[in-house]
Amino acid sequence: TAKTEVKDFLHINDFDKDTITKILNRAIEVKAQIKSGDRTFKPFQGMTLAMVFAKPSLRTHVSFETGFSLLGGHAVYLAPEDIQMGTREETRDVARILSRFTDIIMARVFTHEDILTLSKHATVPVINGLTDYNHPCQIMADAITLIEHLGRVEGNKVAYVGDGNNVVHSWLELASLFPIHFVCASPKGFEPDAKTVEKARQVGISKIEITNDPREAVKGADIVYTDVWASMGQKEEAEKRREAFKGFQVDQSLMDIAGSKALFMHCLPAEKGVEVTEEVIEGPSQSSSRKLRIDYMHRMA
Ligand code: NVA
Repeated sequence: TAKTEVKDFLHINDFDKDTITKILNRAIEVKAQIKSGDRTFKPFQGMTLAMVFAKPSLRTHVSFETGFSLLGGHAVYLAPEDIQMGTREETRDVARILSRFTDIIMARVFTHEDILTLSKHATVPVINGLTDYNHPCQIMADAITLIEHLGRVEGNKVAYVGDGNNVVHSWLELASLFPIHFVCASPKGFEPDAKTVEKARQVGISKIEITNDPREAVKGADIVYTDVWASMGQKEEAEKRREAFKGFQVDQSLMDIAGSKALFMHCLPAEKGVEVTEEVIEGPSQSSSRKLRIDYMHRMA
């Protein structure tokens, strides 16, 4: 379909299910090949990747840089102060300049508008490495985690507890392609974007519930997922948010309500003792299911 011809990776559901499935399966194969010590697959030989970061990053930075170099290319890291997108440099100029010098752009930016502007003005592919609106690479990595730990994406109940933010919007993008049961429990006023929820519901393949009750949400979940309560760019709201999010911490009693098969996931970095207890995220290691739980399943961002 025409959808498979899109140049950029900005939202998971810009692609169809077949294409996303192929990418996930290919990633699993390439990961196994590299892990086996075979470093002969060099599809990016002679190519450069620009990594634009308007916000900090550990996982996205290192995974893109090491990944691109393992696959034969060279990645250029551009820190927030290097570009100062929107002030020192106009976003469309960043797109044009990087398109002349590099083969691919990956960018982590504040407003979603910025990634759309980069996409519009770049002549090379643009990959979304997180915006205030969504985080598609994270949820692609999470989909691989589901495949690795649970065998498949389809049919799982994912209960997200916390801020209805960028990570949730990309779960909704995934739920538009793969039939899952996705429940998001957020405090009043912190629910995900209503239009994005509506769009995912209209596709009609996944069961999507938005609630203010974390205890109800996690019942029978395969995955209990959370994220920080104050995302990058919201740190000055942290105290106010801690107040608003009381009762939404993922602690052992919530995991117990979820049930014995529930695994815990977090996109990281976590504020331990805030959105999740140390006990849950570091996990006691008595049982194998607990061991899985503490292997908390991030891959990229
Ligand atoms: N919601 C978090 C995700 C970090 C990977 C943030 O935007 O800061």
